[in-house]
Amino acid sequence: MLTFTALALASTALLCGTTTEAKSIPRRNLPWNSNPLKAKTALLSRNTIPESFINATRGDPSTVALHIDTSDLSARNDTAPYLYGLMHEDINHSGDGGIYGELLTNRAFQGSNVVYGTLPEFSGSLIVGSENPIVPWDPVITGWGAIGDGVRLTLDKLHPLSDALTTALQVDIPLNATGEVGIQNFGWWGIDVRPQQYNASFYALQNYPRNPNDTATTFTLSLRSNLTGEVFASTQIPDTHLPYINYTQYSAHLYPNVTAPDSNNTFAITMDGAANAGKTFYFDLVSLFGETFKNRPNGLRKDIAEAFYEMKPTFLRCPGGNNLEGVSPQTRWDWKKTIGPLINRPGRPGDWSYENTLGLGLMEYLEWCEDMEIEPVLAVYSGFSLDVYGQSGPSYPPDQMQEIVDDALNELEFCMGDTSTYWGSLRAQYGHPEPFNIKFVEIGNEDWFSTTYPYRWAAMYNGLKAVYPNITYISTAYNENTLYNISIPAGEMWDTHHYEEPSYFLENFDFYDNWQEATNNTGVGVLLGEYSAIQIDTYSGVVNYSFPADVHIFYPSLVSAIAEGTYALGAERNPNTVKMSSYAPSLQNQNWFNWTPDMITFDANWNHTVRSVSYWQQWLFAHYRGTQTLPVTNTQGDFNPLFWVASIDVPKNQIYLKVINTLNASVPLSVDITTTCSGVNGTMITADSLDAHNTIENPNAVTPKSFTLDANQSGNGTFSWDVPKWSITVLQFDL
Ligand code: AHR
Repeated sequence: MLTFTALALASTALLCGTTTEAKSIPRRNLPWNSNPLKAKTALLSRNTIPESFINATRGDPSTVALHIDTSDLSARNDTAPYLYGLMHEDINHSGDGGIYGELLTNRAFQGSNVVYGTLPEFSGSLIVGSENPIVPWDPVITGWGAIGDGVRLTLDKLHPLSDALTTALQVDIPLNATGEVGIQNFGWWGIDVRPQQYNASFYALQNYPRNPNDTATTFTLSLRSNLTGEVFASTQIPDTHLPYINYTQYSAHLYPNVTAPDSNNTFAITMDGAANAGKTFYFDLVSLFGETFKNRPNGLRKDIAEAFYEMKPTFLRCPGGNNLEGVSPQTRWDWKKTIGPLINRPGRPGDWSYENTLGLGLMEYLEWCEDMEIEPVLAVYSGFSLDVYGQSGPSYPPDQMQEIVDDALNELEFCMGDTSTYWGSLRAQYGHPEPFNIKFVEIGNEDWFSTTYPYRWAAMYNGLKAVYPNITYISTAYNENTLYNISIPAGEMWDTHHYEEPSYFLENFDFYDNWQEATNNTGVGVLLGEYSAIQIDTYSGVVNYSFPADVHIFYPSLVSAIAEGTYALGAERNPNTVKMSSYAPSLQNQNWFNWTPDMITFDANWNHTVRSVSYWQQWLFAHYRGTQTLPVTNTQGDFNPLFWVASIDVPKNQIYLKVINTLNASVPLSVDITTTCSGVNGTMITADSLDAHNTIENPNAVTPKSFTLDANQSGNGTFSWDVPKWSITVLQFDL
């Protein structure tokens, strides 16, 4: 049975998931890229080959000999403790319909999708389509369907649930109703049903003239197949006298004892037609949660959160990304509207063409960090918004910046203030009396888009630093805008983003070597806040953000992981500069997305959550961090095609040698360590093709495999091994 609403939902997905163009953000290579200091790796001329390859790979399979020195303690550096974190913003339905555990779509009728594009008569980007045909961003019934003949569903504005949730679903039961009547929600392109507890809740009201005698209603809540009608679980809320004036919230648990064969399932609220004929009901904030990560109420979808957690991340950068900034200053991600009871959260038009419920709000982000034992990197609004389709929008003028500074100070008080403060006591009231600890605050996002960051950064930095001197502040611009440089004080950081071709990452392996000294940024750290290989190598090397199919990388593949991993090695060997890094974007709902490639893909079905090759590269490097870097001398050969870095985990008494072979041939490697080892083993990611990637059908096509080395190893720490072609390996030497 494919109802009208299901069709509407499907066509919306088609409209917005697969035909929406990517935003057109102008990109330039950073000026620093032209600095001769970086030109240590071989730069080969680019050819266009319509398949994955890494042009910057040097075709030299001759032996590389490395000497790892464990004796000179003064030559070691502490490794950066915050490499391999997470970046999350609501893009690709990664939040609503993604990691946010709410299983129902459009639960409170907060808004709809829009489509951006261009029109010949106008300049720049425009909203060229909207799901609500009259008012872009206004509510729709998408995701809902009526059950029972003649049952009428409309949106109602006369019975708002709250000041924030002003639209309800009106359900009219016809006078001649018989059998089962009610409503159903199709979930986020389906609902995963398996044996676990589901927590359902909804607010409801009845219409007085259509039931003046207040006859009781029994609601049946069920999870059922949208294909066969099979009911997997149901429960009743019996003999209910619904209010006429103030909504009542009803809740119940559902326990399916089977796993549904697929995720084409619905959640239904039904009642007996004859007993309720002629009545009208209003529903709002209809919600269904399965088990959540660490059982948090209003928490995270468990399977996706566990994939993140198992990566061993160190931080979470949130809530954006562009999604922090808003498509207008008025619709920015305003933290104040994301806290407290859900009925007080109005939602907002997100920067990525769909409405955000704001159910995943500031507290939920902080609790996410708490539950994963990681640090929040809290991005605060800095007085600049994008316009539609990623266009540079307006900035707060200098004389209004105090408003923005104060807002960020209030946000920090909400996070960190004790319960004697206004905002701290509100946090306590909302369930978290213990202050969170914020060590990192990012001021805006990619503010080099605007010409106004110099005064906005200064106002924000000075205003926040004066009150919170121990926080590390992260500038989102340094020298990207040709009109200015941001002078970042020592001890603070610069967030730089790289969506590039594979060869870019090899060519810039040494980008961070001597970066502080060469650029007069002594003491300034780097957050590599977003990076991924986004298209295969091309003649021009210029990234095309319209994602042309012939060069775009849709799913992270081996070529991505090799390139990103090589860049990560460059970061690892510069721990005094590169303090933090995170792949982006991190999540993609396969049914609705506007940006690829992404680290993890998923749909409603938990069995369809796919960890990409790039995920596994992050996972591998995060699992073998080491506590100190070790000096490595190449006594034979040089970087490219092999790239490497060594570290030692002092408490574990283990040495890690990370080696990437970017060549389509094995490369002999010999290693000698100034100490004896009791054993060597390894973990490797490799495949026969650079295009190899994981899919729903074959989610484990490319994963890390551990192996024991059958190598020529002597007691004095000498070791030799052929590094397989196109491989990412961590060798572990037990001391
Ligand atoms: O990751 C997608 C987008 O890329 C982010 O929102 C933005 O920061 C960058 O331009």
